[in-house]
Amino acid sequence: MKDRPLLPLPPGNLGLPIIGQTLTLMRRPKFRQENRQKYGDIFKTRYLGMNFIYLYGKEANKFILSNENKYFVNSSFPNSKKIFGTNNLTWQRGEIHKQSRKILSRSFNEKAIQKYITISSEITKFYLEKWSNCDAIALYPELKNYSFDLICKIILGVESASKTELFELLNNLSSGIFSIPLPVPQTRFGRALQSRKKLFHKLDEIIIQHREQPQNDALDILLQTEYLSDLELKEQIINLILLGHKEIASALSSFFVSIAQHRDIRDRLNREQKCFADSQTLNLEQIKSMTYLENTIKEVLRIFPPVPGGIRKVIQDCSFQGYQIPKNWYVIYDLKSTHQDPEIYTQPELFNPDTFNSLNKEDKKQPYSYLPFGGGLRECLGKELALTIMKIFNSILLRNYDWKLLSELDLETSSQFIPTWQDVKIILIKSPQVSGI
Ligand code: HEM
Repeated sequence: MKDRPLLPLPPGNLGLPIIGQTLTLMRRPKFRQENRQKYGDIFKTRYLGMNFIYLYGKEANKFILSNENKYFVNSSFPNSKKIFGTNNLTWQRGEIHKQSRKILSRSFNEKAIQKYITISSEITKFYLEKWSNCDAIALYPELKNYSFDLICKIILGVESASKTELFELLNNLSSGIFSIPLPVPQTRFGRALQSRKKLFHKLDEIIIQHREQPQNDALDILLQTEYLSDLELKEQIINLILLGHKEIASALSSFFVSIAQHRDIRDRLNREQKCFADSQTLNLEQIKSMTYLENTIKEVLRIFPPVPGGIRKVIQDCSFQGYQIPKNWYVIYDLKSTHQDPEIYTQPELFNPDTFNSLNKEDKKQPYSYLPFGGGLRECLGKELALTIMKIFNSILLRNYDWKLLSELDLETSSQFIPTWQDVKIILIKSPQVSGI
């Protein structure tokens, strides 16, 4: 029998040996869009010594996300193995990954989330009150402190964590990822390794305190299971904190920016909040019934997804749409462009929460077309927690405050690859709209 002819590699330019297109990528932020315009919805490139294939569209999302462990496994940058360790969801694969998700999800299921509602409301009220007493606040940096405090309180029971050493140590860990892997204190990589040691020491202390006196947080739930070693527990916790807080800060920033520019949507959100005017505290039932708020948050996540896509390593040769996808290369799925696809969304560029109402349900018409939390076996573990936190924050915000952006923004042209609204400042004005909380 004759061998089947080898399929071609996708079009694209790999650039120089080893470094490939790294310098071009650093110099030209629109590098990916330019490549897509030039080569189409599947193209190859190379950076940091790794060969990549970008795949765009809902079919590509399905191909990547439904073939986890068969053709693809999750991956990250090489330094992350040494800095964060391999006993966490990012590096775990197959059966071990499945088991770990099962254990960790006990801290993020509905029963657990109910316990976090009061904490979330209190921290939200504290921050909003503080910001309303300032002349102006830098939106994203402040929201990052807020979400870090909240996630650390929910997971570890630590108060005001952004003001503790934890914040600096975790930031040091993250900055070691893109540095030369020399384990000396002068490099960012070396500092990351030192910080890992200190952080583990801190977590040891926190774990001992929890064993002596439980605090009703996620760590307590995890300590009740005998399946996690202390090393895995610490590595999983660090991973959870890092995967959760920046995304929430990004999504809330985008909410502030979007709603400031849509008075009509703001009015509808307020009308919905009036239905809950009599309650002094929020409960899960009420939070779930805020459907217009939920649709607005979903629309924020469609237009400004905090995570633009995901990377997977190819573990078995395969093919897609007539091109070969070789083993040991990396594939990237891009959810941001899927959310803007006119074949999926009627008016993709328009900010309209009704995209998701019970009549339209545009996200449900075709599979793999709405993926702010990813999909498949690695769908975001904190999805329900993140949605609940965002609804609580926005509900308290809408009821009690108004806000103004200090700069005019054009939402269409200012959308960044990862929306952080880095330079945006706002003024928050105390202005009770709805009685109650
Ligand atoms: C608005 C907030 C959030 C967004 C938009 C978001 C988005 C995502 C996305 C897109 C993925 C999949 C990435 C991929 O396919 O490679 C993911 C994975 C993950 N997220 Fe989130 N996330 C958010 C909040 C959180 C929170 C609050 C937590 C936990 C505290 C969390 C924990 C995780 C974990 C553990 C994974 C990896 C799951 C696995 O590999 O099995 N996320 N998230």
